[in-house]
Amino acid sequence: MAKTLTAADIAKRAAAREAVKLVESGMRLGLGTGSTAAWFVELLGERIREEGLKVTGTPTSERTARLAARLGVPLVTLDEAGWLDLTVDGADEFDAALTLIKGGGGALLQEKIVAVASDRMVVIADETKQVETLGAFPLPVEIVPFGWETTKAIVEEMLEDMDVDGRSSTLRMAKDAPYVTDCGHYILDLHLRRIGDPEDLSGALNAIPGVVENGLFIEIADMAVVGHEDDTATTI
Ligand code: 5RP
Repeated sequence: MAKTLTAADIAKRAAAREAVKLVESGMRLGLGTGSTAAWFVELLGERIREEGLKVTGTPTSERTARLAARLGVPLVTLDEAGWLDLTVDGADEFDAALTLIKGGGGALLQEKIVAVASDRMVVIADETKQVETLGAFPLPVEIVPFGWETTKAIVEEMLEDMDVDGRSSTLRMAKDAPYVTDCGHYILDLHLRRIGDPEDLSGALNAIPGVVENGLFIEIADMAVVGHEDDTATTI
């Protein structure tokens, strides 16, 4: 029986449907992670089956790799691809400058590596993800497990000097144990409520030795495709 789609599913699918039109035969694609990116992979699989579109996909997570393989998308690693023509991925929040918060699905590190190795990065999202000021969504920060409590304390201390409204953080959990990323790291979610200066914050976070990468994507996205509940999409 076909699954009933929620209004959010319809909006996410509308964004993905618009983005999949950007794909041309021969492209090396970066495949994002999350429920919106999953719609893109699904619709890409459809074009491959129905039109014989020839592309390769470089997945940003094991989850996306499994989905893409099941849908018949030929997969290559980033190193096999060398460089990518287009990456399409979701976001937890984005603003008018196309600065993003990513990592709600725990794949921010591989997502950022793939996005910066692409000629073009297109964000697909439902309209609820568009915000005036970033920060209501907790900012994910990937950290190494070694000394994580010390890293958490250093991050919180550093936040005292930042233009943000909240300064607490929580270690992301999966049931009773810390959530572990595909790269073997932990994730700290920073409850900032408002990020006044994303660039300053991103630089300060990445300067802490236990921090691997943070979920702010600055000057990486080239375009956003925003899906609406009436099954239409607009481009920013
Ligand atoms: C995963 C991500 C996702 O793109 C982000 O969490 C949005 O997910 P969804 O499309 O399910 O709302 O950054 O790490």
